[in-house]
Amino acid sequence: MPLTLAKLPYEQDPEAIELSRKRLGIRVEKHTPLALQRHLYRPRCPPVLRGAFTVRRASSPQSAMDHDERIKALFPHVHHKPIVEIAFHDGEKPMSIGRPLRLGVLFSGGPAPGGHNVLAGLHDFLASRNISSSLVGFLGGPSGLIEGKYKEITEETLFRYRNQGGFHLLGSGRTKIETPEQLDAAFTTCERLQLDGLVIVGGDDSNTNACVLAEYIAARGGTTCVVGVPKTIDGDLRNAYIEASFGFDSACKLYAEIVSNLALDAVSAQKVYHICRLMGRSASHITLEVALQTHPNLAIISEEVAAHKQTLGMIVDTIADLVCERAALAKNYGVIILPEGLVEFMPDIKSLIQELNEVLAQAPARNGVAAGDAPQNPSEEADEANALGDPDASLVVIRRIAQRLSKESAELLSSLPSAFAVQLCMDRDPHGNVQVSKIESERLVAEMVERELEKRKQEGTYRGKFSAVTHFLGYEGRCGLPSNFDCNYCYVLGLVAGGLVENGCNGYIARATGLTQAPELWHVGGVPLTAMMTIERRKGRDIPVISKSVVDMAGPIFQNFKRERHSWALSDDYRIVGPMQFYGDGADCLTISMQIGD
Ligand code: FBP
Repeated sequence: MPLTLAKLPYEQDPEAIELSRKRLGIRVEKHTPLALQRHLYRPRCPPVLRGAFTVRRASSPQSAMDHDERIKALFPHVHHKPIVEIAFHDGEKPMSIGRPLRLGVLFSGGPAPGGHNVLAGLHDFLASRNISSSLVGFLGGPSGLIEGKYKEITEETLFRYRNQGGFHLLGSGRTKIETPEQLDAAFTTCERLQLDGLVIVGGDDSNTNACVLAEYIAARGGTTCVVGVPKTIDGDLRNAYIEASFGFDSACKLYAEIVSNLALDAVSAQKVYHICRLMGRSASHITLEVALQTHPNLAIISEEVAAHKQTLGMIVDTIADLVCERAALAKNYGVIILPEGLVEFMPDIKSLIQELNEVLAQAPARNGVAAGDAPQNPSEEADEANALGDPDASLVVIRRIAQRLSKESAELLSSLPSAFAVQLCMDRDPHGNVQVSKIESERLVAEMVERELEKRKQEGTYRGKFSAVTHFLGYEGRCGLPSNFDCNYCYVLGLVAGGLVENGCNGYIARATGLTQAPELWHVGGVPLTAMMTIERRKGRDIPVISKSVVDMAGPIFQNFKRERHSWALSDDYRIVGPMQFYGDGADCLTISMQIGD
């Protein structure tokens, strides 16, 4: 029997592909068949979003997660509102179809696969309502709104971005709209452009900020509705109301492919340990998901490290013990994964970072008096030393900073490999946080384990060979082609955000629920942002925040991992996931975390 291969959809429809090529205006050789095919993908969505729909009240007014009175005092205009749902128009409520709308949108924070489909959803929503509607996108994130820098988003500009990765149609940024001047500037832009709505696509901090802006605009009598959309590959914007942030699904699939390829390399060549740091600043959802997908020999989960107060030394011992056990089985290779935010969860390093934050905050401002006798900003010096990669320059910086720390922290800082110590002292982000993506904790761990094993060798308790290759799986996960799930989810969130604006839902976040089912069965609507809020003490101040969701160690996802992980340590039971699929059986597979659910 001759072997017949199934044709991919794009091979079946040459006319559609040709039309797509022409519209894209790109030379054929510049465009891969897959990218072209993704342009042709039609996101799936609940049927209610395809036609005329209504937004209706679905609950009583919602209290905040905690500190309700304080949240109410801070957000009097947008608090205590009901959850709303999108439903088929039942003829009872007059439809607002026909009114042209003006909408603004911006990306805030790190990119996440699928962002452009939020724009596509917004655009298609507007087009379906009134062709005189318009969509403007603010450039470079919230700063584009403050500075009034934007571009019109039309079908022509948007077409080539549908179902594609990146945030590059608009760009993104981490500016926070918080000072009176910034809030006033944002308000002025909304008024000047006569925006009916402003959609902020971001994580927990950006959505908190969206709520602050919603309140500010309402208090000043403005009519722009601010609506949030849940985004972040880290997966930490998840709570009783929001099932998932977009981008997590695609990013995990990409990281899992790489980790499982490294696992195969480890077992094939049998000469190295691959130590991989995975993105995820405040929570280890990505590392946990990738562990469940790939079965590494060891996965460190920050939340467990914090719960068990594991110091750096204890983590180094755990890894060294694993290496020794495997060496006894003649396995001098393996795969270890750890989360990007780990350094901030180890109690000893955490106190060191807190002290460093104080020291660096007291230092003379960057671009301040740097000439003459004035001391240079230590974080600036650290940045320079790191860029130079010069151990001597690093030591000078570390010694100088160590003088201003407590004895314990000074000793810890001085005991760390100098490259890592200097990275801990580097410049903070605009919110005063350590930039964990720039701290090479995988190299720290590799170096310290090597030291420990050397010691054990001297003591005669270890006879293997240890060679580590370190990897940071970070930025490459944020802009890849979005999975089918993220294409669908983002498009739906865009349509829903448009519907919320049309119905005057100021201070809401768009959502879809029932995400483990087919998109046609999702329920869609909005939740008041204050319902997800509480008060937290950050940098010495009580502020309203949407809490980050961290790994729940009592939840089924972590428990599942806990049950399995011992068998992965020695057995090389690697699960090879391969590249993300867009067609066929695996194309609509959800993450294991989503399938298990907490
Ligand atoms: P968001 O929460 O803004 O989506 O960003 C998350 C993230 O991808 C983290 O995992 C990482 O620590 C951070 O971005 C790095 O950001 P930057 O682009 O500022 O280096």
